[in-house]
Amino acid sequence: MKAGIGVCASSILMLATAAFPLLPAQEQEPNYDEKKVPDYVLPDPLTTGDGRRVANARDWREVRRPEILELFRSQMYGRRPGPPRELRSRVTSMESRALGGTAVRKEVSLYLNTDRELPRMDLLIYLPASRSGPVPAFLGLNFNGNHSIHPDPGISLTRTWMRPSKVEGAVLENRATEKGRGTLSRRWPVEKIIGRGYALVTAYYGDTDPDDDDEFRNGVHPLFYRPGQTRPDADEWGSIAAWAWGLSRALDYLETDPGVDQHKVALLGHSRLGKTALWAGAEDERFALVISNNSGCGGAALSRRRFGETVARINRVFPHWFCGNFKQYGGREERLPMDQHLLVALMAPRPVYVASAVEDRWADPRGEYLSARHASPVYALLGVPGLPGDSMPGVNQPLMGTIGYHIRSGRHDVTDYDWDRYLDFADRHLRKGP
Ligand code: GCU
Repeated sequence: MKAGIGVCASSILMLATAAFPLLPAQEQEPNYDEKKVPDYVLPDPLTTGDGRRVANARDWREVRRPEILELFRSQMYGRRPGPPRELRSRVTSMESRALGGTAVRKEVSLYLNTDRELPRMDLLIYLPASRSGPVPAFLGLNFNGNHSIHPDPGISLTRTWMRPSKVEGAVLENRATEKGRGTLSRRWPVEKIIGRGYALVTAYYGDTDPDDDDEFRNGVHPLFYRPGQTRPDADEWGSIAAWAWGLSRALDYLETDPGVDQHKVALLGHSRLGKTALWAGAEDERFALVISNNSGCGGAALSRRRFGETVARINRVFPHWFCGNFKQYGGREERLPMDQHLLVALMAPRPVYVASAVEDRWADPRGEYLSARHASPVYALLGVPGLPGDSMPGVNQPLMGTIGYHIRSGRHDVTDYDWDRYLDFADRHLRKGP
């Protein structure tokens, strides 16, 4: 396998494919063999689509960044609407002596449809009881409802439709029940987070769009249809973009909450929600720091490597995640006018952390690392260090510049090891003063 960065030779490719039409997008057996990764050329972050050199911070901000953002919007995640006309919020519960007196627990409903009850995003917020002013926060969507992140009996059961799922042997129904309480708490070490002086804010991802292919009838999409429109256009938002939009609405609310420092909100997401965190951070530069945990294909992993999950497979199994235009790239990754290193680069100069796990080959750890590395030239151009070093680090040897990366031992998950790194990374970047 040879890889390089260069000006994507899309015109040459177009000529070649006109003479020898490509086979229809095919899904092959997943490749886990580094030797079978095809040769590829990555689009250069610092060359514009029409071949001009990006020479300074101004070129990046005014020309190249908007151009890249537009490519991801129109070709991959889809364009999203602005905020609702008015975002109503209501504090639905408040406990100032939660978790044995160490935390304040607060629940807040955000009404996404101006004058209706649904759709609604229910935020669960823990603040350190010992704080003396607004604190930095981690904000992340959860997979199984707010009540799944901690056994705390004071957390309301999620009221929206739930994805039927099996968590640690317990089958959860479409409605949240007591059985689901605390079932994913190992991924959310609330005591550790507040002990380090951070708030934790979370919401169930299905609040904004239930994760099934229902042709965009439920969730937030229909709120924004034009008269007569019945599904998003080919360049309009899929579910990942809807979840990311929800994160921006959570931040709209946090800007009004005196407990949280709105300028120090770190986004964190795992797997499909890691893809979501990256896209949310690209679309909304108010987020101060972004963490993508095991985000894989459509997240941090380079699509052109076709290692583990591929564009063809993700589009077939999760047709609602991306916009219609993304379908054309299944089996034709070399035609993508961007790749995922450019998504990481859209965070610049903000801190961003990409994390992999050794056994999570489906997510292509090396492809995740390479995205972080190939985003670095943009950070350098903007005058901050990107990812230190120039080779993939060993297992459990984190790298931390303004871009962070680690590959830890174990499987696809969020572990204490991951959280310890994220807290260190956040301390380094969010605690260094105004
Ligand atoms: C599947 C999917 C991945 C995704 C993951 C998850 O494995 O193929 O792309 O990241 O689900 O979100 O759990």
